[in-house]
Amino acid sequence: MPSRLFTSSPPLTGRIAVPGDKSISHRALIFASLAVGTSRIDGLLEGEDVLATAAAMRQMGAHIERQEDGAWVVEGTGLGSLIEPRGALDMGNSGTSTRLLMGLLASHGFTATFTGDASLCARPMKRVIEPLSQMGAAFEASTGGTLPLMVRGALPAVPIFYRLPVASAQVKSAILLAGLNTPGITRVIEPVATRDHTERMLAGFGAKIEIGEEDVAEGKERSVAVHGEADLAPMDVTVPGDPSSAAFFLVAASIVPDSDLTIENVGLNPTRAGIVTVLREMGADIAEVNPRDVGGEPVADLRVRHAALSGVEVDPAIVPSMVDEFPALFVAAAFAKGTTRSSGLEELRVKESDRLATMAAALTLAGARVEEKSDGLTVHGSGGEPLRGTPEGAQVKTRLDHRIAMSMAVAGLASRDGVTIDDTAPIATSFPNFMELLEGVAG
Ligand code: S3P
Repeated sequence: MPSRLFTSSPPLTGRIAVPGDKSISHRALIFASLAVGTSRIDGLLEGEDVLATAAAMRQMGAHIERQEDGAWVVEGTGLGSLIEPRGALDMGNSGTSTRLLMGLLASHGFTATFTGDASLCARPMKRVIEPLSQMGAAFEASTGGTLPLMVRGALPAVPIFYRLPVASAQVKSAILLAGLNTPGITRVIEPVATRDHTERMLAGFGAKIEIGEEDVAEGKERSVAVHGEADLAPMDVTVPGDPSSAAFFLVAASIVPDSDLTIENVGLNPTRAGIVTVLREMGADIAEVNPRDVGGEPVADLRVRHAALSGVEVDPAIVPSMVDEFPALFVAAAFAKGTTRSSGLEELRVKESDRLATMAAALTLAGARVEEKSDGLTVHGSGGEPLRGTPEGAQVKTRLDHRIAMSMAVAGLASRDGVTIDDTAPIATSFPNFMELLEGVAG
């Protein structure tokens, strides 16, 4: 468990490029593995979560190799031609790998076992077990509907029409993936639009996808349908930089005086870019330079300069487009003038850690004033003053959660007494060169 102290930083200056988008990287590997022929992926995130997906797809027959130029080349098996994995599929810390692959295997006629680390084995899987069981798959899960679990896929599975009870791109994607190898049309209704990388990229690989609206009692809701027994064709994918990784540097440069930092190639898909909107509402100085299209996704370089932030009331409607960015936002709020209130964040309690409880405890230790509610945090900011904890510094528990570790590292950069992270190893799940980039821009 490598612990590390983060303390008062010189201005963050220069240019960095954050690694590839985690969500898009998982999907590129999975879909390329299902296409007949060779796909090339540029800019793939080489974090542990994505490597867990690659390992699982290899165990099921795909040929996946990294070339010397950094591109990944995938020779797919063709949909329906995956082979039963010999050992358990070890998903490490990755909820996305687990839920997407549970969906994929739900319509393949074999049995597989999923396992993972202590954090992943505590996360709820009933949200995918329930709809996938309706499609005909059988599950044997640990008590409480968690990993380790075994799935026996149905061949053929039956298509379903399913309204998501929680706003979750992982659940939506699991059902659509199951629908790929299922005769007929599988349709998902989402009460709140979540990240749409699955539907965008599946269409690119040649699946027939229909996006529409469905009349429900509450009004109109977004519907995504996939036509089953698809023939996927190989494709070259360029993965844009991950806005969720950029978020740590957006906040860091906003709170460390005199910073002026450019983050290149940041994906700004509207279903992901909520953090930029909210930071700007708080007064952050973020300019979009050279907006362009990369691999079918909107991208820009973001120039962020230190600015005085003010507290805001975060609109719960924006939550799905920044669901992973709240730990970083809470740090920004701790340095703002006034109070930041958030609500509608129940889902944060079932991420890699309970992010409301973990961040409330960590920020309080670092000297911030925080109130934990059942569905959000209220953070009373310092008005731009460095946080003052105890003279011996805050010893923060990150609970195997990469985003808590990076958020609290950022808080440390503007704290008087420093913040010690108990374990920096989980950072490698999503952002392996975080420390290197931070050291490069901090003087
Ligand atoms: C993801 C969806 C989100 C997000 C996760 C990645 C995805 O999870 O928190 O980091 O790639 O689909 P939920 O779908 O559970 O909200």
